[in-house]
Amino acid sequence: MDKEKLIQYGLEEQLLPKHVAIIMDGNGRWAKKRLMPRSYGHKKGVERVREIVRASSFFGIQAITLYAFSTENWKRPKEEVGVLMSLLTQYLQSEVKELHDNGVRFRMIGHREGLSPSLQELIKNAEDKTRENTTLNLTVAINYGGRDELDHAAIAFAKDVVTGQCMLDSKEFQKRLYTAGLPEVDYLIRTSGEQRISNFLLYQAAYAELYFTDIYWPDFDTEQYAKALKEFAVRNRRYGGL
Ligand code: FPP
Repeated sequence: MDKEKLIQYGLEEQLLPKHVAIIMDGNGRWAKKRLMPRSYGHKKGVERVREIVRASSFFGIQAITLYAFSTENWKRPKEEVGVLMSLLTQYLQSEVKELHDNGVRFRMIGHREGLSPSLQELIKNAEDKTRENTTLNLTVAINYGGRDELDHAAIAFAKDVVTGQCMLDSKEFQKRLYTAGLPEVDYLIRTSGEQRISNFLLYQAAYAELYFTDIYWPDFDTEQYAKALKEFAVRNRRYGGL
């Protein structure tokens, strides 16, 4: 964490969320406004991913989870799916060294079997290389759906209970979620003016504060991120109590 940066952006360490989840929305509309193809918006979106991951490190956030591709995104035109998959591939190819050098632990959540073998391999290598890192947990949701995750965890849990491998205990259920080991989501940010959760981290965001901004993802820079984090600092979290 960089104390000077926190001061520069008007943030206080003890008032930061531990785990921020982001639904990065609006790439297509951002591009359309500029009469550019949607792929241009996604490319700009990757630049913001880089910026926000770096900013999370210097602000001292423990975990950030980004929604990059949902189980529903396969319904998009084939070319757009191809662009998103190649951007994810390029990101992993170009970024893992820097992530590792900065102590970032990379994880992917989602249904990996649906991804190409080469992307699966890159993901696995990135996870293996960065496994021991502790500065920031960067989790990217790819081919992810919250209900799919819950179904998957429930089936694995039921099997392990029946075969006597674990106790009938909610902690054991949580261990079978894709996010096992990560703190609960404190803050869920969605860009582009849509006010929905869209099947993202349904279990983990149960008590998350929600933040919606009209800014499109390609314009969500460090300044905007700091603004969102300042808003978190003044929220009064009661977890159902008084
Ligand atoms: C939503 O915008 C964005 C996505 C579906 C993809 C997000 C992916 C990236 C930012 C790039 C890859 C990510 C990483 C982690 C390298 P939209 O296309 O739904 O925009 P629209 O609602 O304006 O059409």
